[in-house]
Amino acid sequence: MKLVPALVLAALSTACVHREAGPASASGAESTGGGKAVAAPLTIELQPGITPAKPLLGLKRGVNLGNGFDAPSIGAWGVTPSEAHFALAKKAGLDHVRLPVRFNAHALKDAPYTIDAEFFAKIDWAIDAALSRDLYLVLDLHHYEELMTEPAAHEARAIAIWKQVAERYKDRPDKLLFELLNEPCKELNPERLNALHAKLIATVRESNPTRMLIVDGYFWAAANYLESLVVPAADPNIALSFHMYQPILFTHQGAAWMDPEFQSSGIVFPGPPNAPASRSTAAESTDWTRSWLDSYERNPASTNPSSVDAVRREFDIATRVAAKTGRSVYMGEFGAIDFAEPVSRENYLRLVRREAEHRGIAWTLWDDGGRMQGMDVHEGTWIEVVARALLNDQPGGPAPAVTLADPTPSSTAAPTSPAAPVGSAPALDTAAAAE
Ligand code: BGC
Repeated sequence: MKLVPALVLAALSTACVHREAGPASASGAESTGGGKAVAAPLTIELQPGITPAKPLLGLKRGVNLGNGFDAPSIGAWGVTPSEAHFALAKKAGLDHVRLPVRFNAHALKDAPYTIDAEFFAKIDWAIDAALSRDLYLVLDLHHYEELMTEPAAHEARAIAIWKQVAERYKDRPDKLLFELLNEPCKELNPERLNALHAKLIATVRESNPTRMLIVDGYFWAAANYLESLVVPAADPNIALSFHMYQPILFTHQGAAWMDPEFQSSGIVFPGPPNAPASRSTAAESTDWTRSWLDSYERNPASTNPSSVDAVRREFDIATRVAAKTGRSVYMGEFGAIDFAEPVSRENYLRLVRREAEHRGIAWTLWDDGGRMQGMDVHEGTWIEVVARALLNDQPGGPAPAVTLADPTPSSTAAPTSPAAPVGSAPALDTAAAAE
């Protein structure tokens, strides 16, 4: 996801090109000097008087298994989902996993748009891997890019995909949730999106009358668009979702999948910094990024765009929508790239995570196994700075040891065909802390 500061949302809605994720690598963009800033550890003071949103079943804390089944083909982006992913999620005391799946890359192009049986078996395996560990699983249709650019041409196919998925999993426990469409954007504007959601919901409801569904707002699930979501009033089992990546120039600095104006580096959280950012040439010549960087370098904390308040403004929208609609609001993704200076990254992840909890919003870390990695399945452990942010409320505490005794990811990878029996999870290190 990617979004731009609220002020320039409208102006940039066509200019902000969100490309696909891919193997993460350094951007190598040309840039000016600077980039040596370091932030101080952030002490978080939560605001009193906030009414929490309605809980989303028992979901509170989770992780995405990104760049696996949502890649163009499994393994193409360096992630092959494995038992170790689920074991590490459980080990950290999480209660759910969000599973992004590019079903559209594994379905026939023409009617009846049949989903490939072998691929489906892998999704069965993933669902079992979560449910057998008593984790909720959010099954998410991810990276259906053609639907974003040609919504009318792909509508029937999207409906047929959900019909098959819904029928296949109709007898699964309520711990399986369906998220209809990740990060709607481009031509799938709010009006078209609401119309499409209505059809997808009706389709899913034929076989799953009460399963919890999640719908994302427009513009890569920007909080600003939560309010334009319209869902059937009589259906209580629909939650509204947003993704949290603001301030985007901090969270996505240098991300290879972003446009050149996102390729500055040395941006800390919170600002102002003790050294200027290293600005990419494109950031310097693009109005909104130059002006953002100027304010970031000059403004005090109270008006700085890289600030606690900037984060809270996003959450305030979510809290307002939760109160107005009486629905659960879900934060299906948040994250910060590992090019960010580590103290800043920890500050940001902890702040977002704690704000969400304070407001009764279930959170799900975006883990892409690359530059936004949380779990390291090869080492059988969580990345230290991420674990600290997610599991310690205050900065400076010891890194929680979230480690598998025997990771052996290669022997526990998703089966080829047919689905392998579950239960082959690696043994866990019983000494590791969960909370
Ligand atoms: C996208 C990924 C991206 C991530 C963070 C996700 O929603 O699917 O492509 O890496 O957001 O930008």
